[in-house]
Amino acid sequence: MSTPMPMHLPTPLSTLTIRPMTSADLDSVLLLESASFSEPWTKELYAHELNDNRLSEYRVVVAADAHPAEPPNVIAQGGWMLFGEEAHILTIAVQPEFRGQGIGRWLMLALMEETRQAGCSAVALEVRPSNETALSLYESLGFRLIGRRKRYYPDKEDALVLLLDGLDDPLLWEPFQRDLDRLSVRLAGKADFGDKEV
Ligand SMILES: CC(C)(COP(=O)(O)OP(=O)(O)OC[C@H]1O[C@@H](n2cnc3c(N)ncnc32)[C@H](O)[C@@H]1OP(=O)(O)O)[C@@H](O)C(=O)NCCC(=O)NCCS
Repeated sequence: MSTPMPMHLPTPLSTLTIRPMTSADLDSVLLLESASFSEPWTKELYAHELNDNRLSEYRVVVAADAHPAEPPNVIAQGGWMLFGEEAHILTIAVQPEFRGQGIGRWLMLALMEETRQAGCSAVALEVRPSNETALSLYESLGFRLIGRRKRYYPDKEDALVLLLDGLDDPLLWEPFQRDLDRLSVRLAGKADFGDKEV
């Protein structure tokens, strides 16, 4: 009798890359949205963000060897908006079958690095108190609680406001850079993220 395959094995990773999100990614991004959020963003909202919001930036994680003629398979996505020297993380999500392998941490660190390069000294975000996985990720990166927005989400759950500052201090950034390099080597096969050298 053959041994049954264990369930819920993580999907094997090919080499990944982080690149800017484009309109061609949106069908795949929407699948990831609906697998990740109770109130997913719409295609129109993403199209507006990509085409009309000059303060926001979005990135996707895809297989590095994906064929350009194939429809994109977005493994993770994240985005931020600049408010002067503060960046606000607008969204971050990883496909359920790819979670728990460091991709969320890698993407967060890559977004932080990009916002740092853009001149930001701090990154802020909102998170549901019930989202223990995301909270654990943010806390492990050093984000601290600075406030609570009452009944913030459409279902009336509060939002916790978290902040990480000091990103413009090279000494404080050093361990983040090491973590980013470590994950880039593991997930992208090199010490950079996407097509941008660090
Ligand atoms: C939050 C999310 C992006 C994390 O992505 P991920 O690729 O699974 O995260 P990683 O594998 O990089 O793990 C990073 C950290 O997250 C935490 N984490 C990951 N999976 C966890 C789990 N099942 N339970 C608790 N903490 C977990 C840990 O602190 C982990 O650090 P460690 O590996 O040193 O233990 C992902 O769970 C997701 O897409 N969730 C749905 C969308 C969402 O909630 N987005 C955030 C909105 S604020």
